[in-house]
Amino acid sequence: RERFDGRPNRQRLLVVANRLPVSAVRRGEDSWSLDISAGGLVSALLGVKEFEARWIGWAGVNVPDEIGQKTLTKELAEKRCIPVFLDEEVVHQYYNGYCNNILWPLFHYLGLPQEDRLATTRSFQSQFAAYKKANQMFADVVNKHYEDGDVVWCHDYHLMFLPKCLKEYNSKMKVGWFLHTPFPSSEIHRTLPSRTELLRAVLAADLVGFHTYDYARHFVSACTRIVGLEGTPEGVEDQGKLTRVAAFPIGIDSDRFIRALEVPEVQKHVKELKERFAGRKVMLGVDRLDMIKGIPQKILAFEKFLEENPYWCDKVVLLQIAVPTRTDVPEYQKLTSQVHEIVGRINGRFGTLTAVPIHHLDRSLDFYALCALYSVTDVALVTSLRDGMNLVSYEFVACQDSKRGVLILSEFAGAAQSLGAGAILVNPWNITEVAAAIGQALNMPAEEREKRHRHNFEHVTNHTAQQWAEIFVSELNDTGIEAEKRISQ
Ligand code: G6P
Repeated sequence: RERFDGRPNRQRLLVVANRLPVSAVRRGEDSWSLDISAGGLVSALLGVKEFEARWIGWAGVNVPDEIGQKTLTKELAEKRCIPVFLDEEVVHQYYNGYCNNILWPLFHYLGLPQEDRLATTRSFQSQFAAYKKANQMFADVVNKHYEDGDVVWCHDYHLMFLPKCLKEYNSKMKVGWFLHTPFPSSEIHRTLPSRTELLRAVLAADLVGFHTYDYARHFVSACTRIVGLEGTPEGVEDQGKLTRVAAFPIGIDSDRFIRALEVPEVQKHVKELKERFAGRKVMLGVDRLDMIKGIPQKILAFEKFLEENPYWCDKVVLLQIAVPTRTDVPEYQKLTSQVHEIVGRINGRFGTLTAVPIHHLDRSLDFYALCALYSVTDVALVTSLRDGMNLVSYEFVACQDSKRGVLILSEFAGAAQSLGAGAILVNPWNITEVAAAIGQALNMPAEEREKRHRHNFEHVTNHTAQQWAEIFVSELNDTGIEAEKRISQ
């Protein structure tokens, strides 16, 4: 069969995620500018040579008119992207509401929002209805573009209903689902009003993947304890149908970071940063401004460290890059002002006429500036209260092969399972412990830094995003083979 790239032998992979790797900004009635994001998932899939990936997702913009939808669809097609158009009301109820105000905090152990606990179930129900409706809209687009032999890979907590919708269209479709967040203990998932419906919808997939073995185990326990299904070493079985469940820890495209350090523009940034912070150790935090990232706790730990170690006050600086995110959700707005308040107080308390201890930026950095910053950093602070994996820790390690800086890493980030031996692991809720870890990191002898860095660098460069994608898709392709063998025997 003729493939869209004219090459007959490559299998098509339809990658479905809430967001396309491209964000669109409207410039006129029929003109668009497209901003490509080169995130982990994008580079992972570009690297997979056996597959021809196409993306299906929301372009992050409301396009109510037909002309706009047509022209945007055409422009995105050149980037192998297919848009799903969601109107403002759906976005509000599905994305801001059910995804980011209910599932996201719940999966990160922050519980359900207060008003839902108090049984104002009207908003919960309408948000859940919008979630299902949005998932059905994604399914309609997938179904329209699906061809026999394609594999469909659904991503993340936004699309837990999608496997079910897709299998209803076509039970033969190969469908995988991967969760980028933690999957919480079944006792947490149990509190969700739609707990069973969601689990059953995910189980319609052939393969269900998580970053860590623990998340996979929690998912299987939720299916056995809440839905009453049977857990097996391979996954979950329901009336003879097996859904394979396994851990697939993601990685980064480490070469891209290592190569960037050779680029003159990055070296120029490095030089400037070194001059700017000469005589001071650089500590770095890079996070989306999200409550799961533990930014206030991290800054308070830094304050405690300064309080207890006045010697370090003018010899260390904390650079905190806090990338604004989900700014329409009230919880996120509150967090911004809370962080600003703490930073202001600490800078007022420990700053001098010439220097402040914390540089806090409410913005993202471009890739080169980020690589430069990673490479001049002495201590990276990744203190998420919960985090599916946390690739900032991987990116930092990839950029540190000459400096051998120290990584302080939350034990509640998925990355603690892979970088735990090289990092200093901390409980981010324990500010005293994090303050002590800062002291330990700043004073660590070169030999120990070298040993820890080596461990992490080897892991990061040997477990790449590309391998992650290849392993997942090849396992997805293999699902059902055992069952078919059993039947034919
Ligand atoms: C997390 C989620 C992703 C999401 C990203 C950015 O990493 O797992 O699915 O895309 O945050 O959040 P946003 O809401 O801006 O897409």
